[in-house]
Amino acid sequence: METDALEKLIERCGADYVARRLSIQIQYSADMLGPGIGSFHFENSEKGMKIVGAVLRLLGVWRRGHANIWAHKTVHNVVRIPNLSSAFEGFKILHLSDLHLDVSDGFSHHLGRLISNQDYDLALITGDFRFKTHGNYYPTLKAIEILSEYLKCGHGSYSILGNHDFLEFVPTLEMSGIRTLLNETVRISKDGAGVWLIGLDDAHFYGVHNYKRAFEKVDVSELKILMIHSPETLEEAWKYGPDFIVTGHTHAGQICLPTGIPLWLNSTCDRDYCRGAWKYKGIPGYTSAGTGSSGLPIRFNCPPEIVIHHLTSSDDR
Ligand SMILES: [Fe+2]
Repeated sequence: METDALEKLIERCGADYVARRLSIQIQYSADMLGPGIGSFHFENSEKGMKIVGAVLRLLGVWRRGHANIWAHKTVHNVVRIPNLSSAFEGFKILHLSDLHLDVSDGFSHHLGRLISNQDYDLALITGDFRFKTHGNYYPTLKAIEILSEYLKCGHGSYSILGNHDFLEFVPTLEMSGIRTLLNETVRISKDGAGVWLIGLDDAHFYGVHNYKRAFEKVDVSELKILMIHSPETLEEAWKYGPDFIVTGHTHAGQICLPTGIPLWLNSTCDRDYCRGAWKYKGIPGYTSAGTGSSGLPIRFNCPPEIVIHHLTSSDDR
């Protein structure tokens, strides 16, 4: 990262946070790529992935699974919020998550073309831009720039970082018009009313989420939408009283049985909160099934999704 960009992040988010995230990134990369003894080595996992991929090819299902990552469905989710300001009645939020954009050349353009067909007021991206969790990220940055060309809406685009993302992505995201919230908040205004977007950094792997800091400037009398990468901190989130929570990370399993039951969710939280719309102690939330794929570029019985959330105070929709 350029020195200027690093200094701005330190000024904005604090030296402790920046140092902590960067040090975990460096240690993680060393663990994944280095020759250490007795530690987990991701390259072994990648070999495992290759073996699974080879088996799927032998079984003749690889091509179908790979085709599935390009076959997005659009989900319209109605979010009922009592006392919603009339200014935000019918407000539409595009929600993308777990994009893993560099999975394949052309994926960003493909996704962008699908987004271009959608009608939305605000775009929220709940993390995981990169396919892998380590290694060369320049293809990811290029893919972010491509996707950003397609994101057009009146109230802007906002993201958080996931466990596949490095802090080094932030300058590119923000130069591309995607403001990235690092335990931060921003107020969106419309006709005199406000919505607070609160974005947490990753809790799943990095553990650098900070609810206290993220919420300290929020006007609790206005609508509060919380962005978290994984639904694993809902109990802590609930204590801060958000009105709506958007999250992802689980991919809803990515590989599911024909009945839709996931084989694995990579999440410690209850399965009730790992897919689609839910309520946690009365707070509505939504866990995206993911817009991309990771590990292996395949999906079975679990299509990738583009979600449009429709805010309303009415019970009639
Ligand atoms: Fe993730």
